[in-house]
Amino acid sequence: MSYYKLLGFDKEPFSTSPDPSFLYLSREYELVLTNLLIQLRLRRGLNVVLGDVGTGKTTLSRKLVSELKGREDFILHIILNANFNTEKEFLYSLIENYEVPFNQHFQEATVSSIRNALENFLLQKAFSENRTTVLIIDEAQKLSESTLESLRVLLNYETNEFKLIQIILLGQLELCPNIMKMPNFYDRIDFKYTLNPLGFTETKELVNFRLKKAGYRSTSPLFLDEAIREIHYHTKGYPRGIIRQCHCCLRALVMSKTKMAVDRELVLEVIQKDVDSVWETTAIR
Ligand SMILES: Nc1ncnc2c1ncn2[C@@H]1O[C@H](COP(=O)(O)OP(=O)(O)O)[C@@H](O)[C@H]1O
Ligand SMILES: [Mg+2]
Repeated sequence: MSYYKLLGFDKEPFSTSPDPSFLYLSREYELVLTNLLIQLRLRRGLNVVLGDVGTGKTTLSRKLVSELKGREDFILHIILNANFNTEKEFLYSLIENYEVPFNQHFQEATVSSIRNALENFLLQKAFSENRTTVLIIDEAQKLSESTLESLRVLLNYETNEFKLIQIILLGQLELCPNIMKMPNFYDRIDFKYTLNPLGFTETKELVNFRLKKAGYRSTSPLFLDEAIREIHYHTKGYPRGIIRQCHCCLRALVMSKTKMAVDRELVLEVIQKDVDSVWETTAIR
């Protein structure tokens, strides 16, 4: 039986999959999400969300998709792997994913024929159908200069009032210097935000939110404040680390048999075990 079922949960509280229903909306997340939705509605063009590994960018992108999915007025495509070898490969992938009418195969198509088809498609969607085309790119720090240049050209398709394509780039911090090397691209950013790690209170709220979401109904806390303080200190408030450590702590709690809640001592044991296992793996190598 899974550890979480033994603790009376319906679901795993600290799964690492970027499930939008397990997203805790901190003030910062709420701010970014609201701003991005406004940006899309106003069709302002280019938005950039930066953040260290594990700050929740992918989770945020899934949340956006779940907000927009099923809405007739949006046409949405999300790129999870931003590795494209050539500009043509990137543009052709847009043709395929947006199902743009185009009668040339990849080999015979040229960059300009693909661009024309995309521009016609964007015009048609915006004016004949009054729909907004959105492109979300996760791991955007991997975008090559030529792909960024293609994005810049797509952002040139505009009317006096709005851009024909809405782009949201989510990437690690090195995306920033990559973009700054291209002033023409940088200038087009209309909304930019850097996600920060969580503070102690938010860490506590995240943990409790996840517990409740997974079906924890008891009023006695499963994680003592002293435990959360320790988790916050060791993870520096990065959601990925928090989730991982909480998962290990709950497993340890089930094994301990004597403890009724995760306390500071248990957290420290879990962290120590983690350190030991790193040393063991290194020694085997
Ligand atoms: N606001 C949040 N609420 C709940 N869980 C979160 C939140 N942000 C991140 N997580 C969790 O942290 C982990 C890392 O998040 P992820 O979105 O993959 O980070 P990034 O893409 O920035 O590296 C995932 O397991 C995710 O479920
Ligand atoms: Mg990610």
